Amino acid sequence: MTARRIAKDQPETFAWTKESRAEVNWWLKKYPGDRRRSAVIPMLWIAQKQEGWVTEPAMRAIGAELDMAHIRVMEVASFYTMFNLAPAGEHLIQVCGTTPCMIRGSQELNAVCERKIGPKGELSADGKFSWMEVECLGACANAPMVQVSTRTSDHYFEDLTPESLEKLLDDLAAGREVTPGPQNGRQTSAPAGEPKTLTDKKLYDGSLAKPVTLPNTAPKENA
Ligand code: FES
Repeated sequence: MTARRIAKDQPETFAWTKESRAEVNWWLKKYPGDRRRSAVIPMLWIAQKQEGWVTEPAMRAIGAELDMAHIRVMEVASFYTMFNLAPAGEHLIQVCGTTPCMIRGSQELNAVCERKIGPKGELSADGKFSWMEVECLGACANAPMVQVSTRTSDHYFEDLTPESLEKLLDDLAAGREVTPGPQNGRQTSAPAGEPKTLTDKKLYDGSLAKPVTLPNTAPKENA
């Protein structure tokens, strides 16, 4: 992973909206007084959802509220790639590039993003999109996949091809409705293709299991 640095251009100030403030208060109530700093991740997340990215004034405000040096807040924000340290597009495309997705074609998805959106980490000409490569998002069975984040949602689009990703980007750009999940008709992460049914009961009823003797399980003689 390359170094993650905060954006050069920063807003002057940060303030929670009423809704964000209520959400922050809800999180703060979860932690005892001497563990309030544990709220740093949810607070960063709420700030990001409010602003579209985590600004330096937001990190300072969070540090002040949690009695943390703001560099500590910055360390957390720069460690986790889910926090955007620079403005992101209205639709942030996160392409998983870890091994299962890579061997199933994630690099071709990167090429589509580069062609349709622009260089990695930069806003598209219309400001609607940006894209980045991320580590495993836990949907390896449906590789390759992307997560698309907006201010109000985070959705997985799986079993992608360059063509289906291109269509997804076109649909998002045109404001058309899109359906998260597998894009190849597969039902969730069920086996691809026709449903598979085990017809031989012996394969799952345990009748083929051989008895095992576990160590230290024999009854004690004088018990
Ligand atoms: S490797 Fe891509 S989701 Fe796990």
